[in-house]
Amino acid sequence: MTSEPTPWRATVLTLFPEMFPGPLGISLAGKALASGLWALEARDIRASATDKHRSVDDTPAGGGPGMVLRADVLAAAIDAVDASEGRPKLVMSPRGRPLTQARVAELASGPGPLIVCGRFEGIDQRVIDARGLEEVSIGDYVLSGGEIAAMTLIDACVRLLPGVMGKLASGTDESFSDGLLEYPQYTRPQAFEGRPIPDVLISGDHAKVAKWRLAEAEALTAARRPDLWAERPKAPESGKKRKPPKITTSE
Ligand code: ADE
Repeated sequence: MTSEPTPWRATVLTLFPEMFPGPLGISLAGKALASGLWALEARDIRASATDKHRSVDDTPAGGGPGMVLRADVLAAAIDAVDASEGRPKLVMSPRGRPLTQARVAELASGPGPLIVCGRFEGIDQRVIDARGLEEVSIGDYVLSGGEIAAMTLIDACVRLLPGVMGKLASGTDESFSDGLLEYPQYTRPQAFEGRPIPDVLISGDHAKVAKWRLAEAEALTAARRPDLWAERPKAPESGKKRKPPKITTSE
């Protein structure tokens, strides 16, 4: 008998397991979850508490506001996950390295991560060090906990899994996959509140369409994300930085 291969799996350690699957149970990710293309396991950190109050946090050493997640409780929760060997162990945190599409693609191509969701003022540093947790941020703003950040990361990975996007597999033609933001899209009606679809898109000339889309993507990237634009490779012949074409859509 042949056994099914283990699907990509996200294991989430959280104080609020009831938040999952939440939005991950709907639409593209939800259908893929229901059909077994990936698996989700939300585990309650509190189940690893040992005292009679089931406490998971305590006041920060050195003083200060709020509460800190205890190292011993969180370490026990991590260690209780079966077959975690070889899986990336992440902790969602605004002080982590910013998540990128490249890291998402790496995580999607592996067995799937174990993700710790922080709450309170933080997590005891010793468990981060002792279990080699990779701190990951989804942006320069502070959420009230890591759960929504974990859902964001999982969603970004799941859509890249084989079979999830099916014919929609436009993974190579979208924002960030080539270091550019995505070009603007249009559909019917041909005129909307006096704004026509750009002529080139209804010309039927595929080469011209491709050229226009690249120019728009470059112009948008240069205008909105000078950081990404600066990282673009130089134009091959001249050795000079590319000049962005002028933007035609509104910023
Ligand atoms: N937890 C709170 N804020 C966060 C952020 N910006 N990214 C990841 N995890 C977080």
